[in-house]
Amino acid sequence: MSDLRADLVNYLRQLSEEEPVLILDRSLSPLNLTENDRRRDELKELELKVSTCTRCELAATRLNVVFGVGDPHARLMFIGEAPGADEDRQGEPFVGRAGKLLTKMIRAMKMQRSEVYIANILKCRPPGNRDPRPEEAAACLPYLKGQIDLIKPHVIVALGKVAAVKLLNIQANVSLKSLRGRVFNYDTRPLIVTYHPAALLRSPGFKLPAWEDMQFVMKLLSGDIKWQPDREAGYPQMDFAAGGG
Ligand code: URA
Repeated sequence: MSDLRADLVNYLRQLSEEEPVLILDRSLSPLNLTENDRRRDELKELELKVSTCTRCELAATRLNVVFGVGDPHARLMFIGEAPGADEDRQGEPFVGRAGKLLTKMIRAMKMQRSEVYIANILKCRPPGNRDPRPEEAAACLPYLKGQIDLIKPHVIVALGKVAAVKLLNIQANVSLKSLRGRVFNYDTRPLIVTYHPAALLRSPGFKLPAWEDMQFVMKLLSGDIKWQPDREAGYPQMDFAAGGG
């Protein structure tokens, strides 16, 4: 038995009158609780840093910095474009009409909003909801990268073309359609591109393909479809029609 494990057994013995049963599920072990706290603290630290950011001119017009919300240990992370008026007011991403639809999609995937993590490319609202400017995205992306590095999601979903283009660092003249149905490699994590919920509100016909995307995401999460990052980075890796593999 390793020293660490022996210490844990001793510790459990001290707390209990019964012979301790070794916890095999690491996510439940006291050792892992420390790791949970550490990750939460580091995310909080980053949030505090971002809350006073003045890296771009959006700092002058924002009401609130919209850092992100959800479980620091989320296995699934949704990334949108930028806060809108509701999000700017409330300081939380995806709380407006599009956000309510996203929440319904998450529930349809048999998860709670609090179980996933939701963030945006930009942490501050562009006036009039205009597209993010390159210098704004460049200033803000390191924060998002910091969030991803801490949370370590199993799967990332880019909501809409702007999020996909910025995350994958690809030309903006691609069509969203050409990005769907593929698994991209984001820093060794699988990244799926789907419609932005606002697009689903405008064009309800996209709801079905978006649901197909989410079913694929669920298969990646459950391990039914395996994905390996060592194949061509940044290129299409799978075909939905082929069922993955
Ligand atoms: N649209 C986005 O891309 N993000 C939000 O947080 C809200 C609407």
